[in-house]
Amino acid sequence: MKRESWHSRLGFAVAAMGSAIGLANIWRFPYIVGQYGGAAFIIVYLLCLVFIGLPVFMAEIVIGRAAKQNPSGAFIAWGKNRFWRFSGHLIVITGFLVSSFYSVVAGWILGYFIFSVGGKLSVITNSEIASHFFANFLKNPYGLVSWHFLFMLICALILIRGVKKGIEKANKILLPALFFILIGLVIRGMTLPRGLAGFHFLLSARWAELTPTAILIALGHAFFTLSLGQGTMITYGSYLKGEENLPKLCLPVLLADTFVSILAGVAIFTTAFSTEVPPQVGFGLVFQTLPLIFEQIPGGQILLAFFFFFVLIAAISSQISAMEPTIAYLIDHKKKTRKNATFIVAICAFLIGIPCALSFNVFSGVGGKAAVFDCFNFLTTSILIPMGGLLSVILVGWVQKKFLFSEEFKRGDLFFFKKYPWIEKYFYFCIKYVAPLLIIIVFIHILLS
Ligand code: PHE
Repeated sequence: MKRESWHSRLGFAVAAMGSAIGLANIWRFPYIVGQYGGAAFIIVYLLCLVFIGLPVFMAEIVIGRAAKQNPSGAFIAWGKNRFWRFSGHLIVITGFLVSSFYSVVAGWILGYFIFSVGGKLSVITNSEIASHFFANFLKNPYGLVSWHFLFMLICALILIRGVKKGIEKANKILLPALFFILIGLVIRGMTLPRGLAGFHFLLSARWAELTPTAILIALGHAFFTLSLGQGTMITYGSYLKGEENLPKLCLPVLLADTFVSILAGVAIFTTAFSTEVPPQVGFGLVFQTLPLIFEQIPGGQILLAFFFFFVLIAAISSQISAMEPTIAYLIDHKKKTRKNATFIVAICAFLIGIPCALSFNVFSGVGGKAAVFDCFNFLTTSILIPMGGLLSVILVGWVQKKFLFSEEFKRGDLFFFKKYPWIEKYFYFCIKYVAPLLIIIVFIHILLS
């Protein structure tokens, strides 16, 4: 069977941006910035991106493009022993686990989107009602499982259509819309009374809040938001035809992702301050704050529906990219058709996600703690994903010969790399030394704490 590929360079770029820009930008970044020191956190986060995120991203794309295989096949092709075979499998499993719990939260977005279309969110007129509404939403196990199911189904229907007609086409339509809405929200947030106070809160550097845990979270977030460490970029890289300048292709993805994270932070904090909703309410921020914002705007209910629709889009393009490595694995190694592979992955990820959905109600612990969900979240974002990234850089920097990296990295634009030799040096140095060292330090910290 002929391996699928992107229709164009732009196809890869939008798909990778669609993958990177997701709930983590809109739902996670703003609240971790609020919690761990504002601009102090942002600075550490940017450093993580430059010295770890971008090099790991490059390592994964290089592995994928050179091997033209799913992560497991690519690791075997480059590592050539059982350890790397096992590592490749671990990476595929990580992506699969991410897709199972990601869909649960994305299901909430879908739920809120449908509510907003039906005008149900118009009852949210103050912050107390907003938190009650959200709490009740989480308490309903049938509701959460159904939203999770529906969301998974939508993604499966896109994935079945394949790389060009499914993933690429969906992203080309959905991504630009997301940008427009976010910019609108930022403008609205900045012009709200007291909105600027939120802006200052976000951008003030509170170094005391920047604990070692915060640094760990910044690193984990850099990996998560760029969809690294779990096979997505290896798989998307494997659909690249070959003759592109990789840094030129990858840098815009990183910039767009960071831009959206910061804009989402600005939109949410300016609005949160204007409505006096405390900014540190955890992942409920989007679900409690945003309905309140729109409540204050003429025609707000329609805008709110649009907003949730666009967050939904961000979630869909990320979720399909989290499912794709496992699908590619089943197609490459188990010789499944795309249709069967998609259904197998969607059904299994749905089933594994159910305990996560139930951890907010049926299995919820003392004080409503969602232990299963938290456990999935911690295991994937703090352990497995950085581990996957570490394995990729070790494979490229230490196991594989340097000239193979060099050849693959520079393929497509030899003249450019001759003109700017420091680019290759920077990537190779970070891949070989900086990224592995920093990731290992973070792991030692986790083990000791
Ligand atoms: N990058 C996505 C986000 O920011 C999440 C994601 C992680 C998607 C891993 C795919 C793989 O929400």
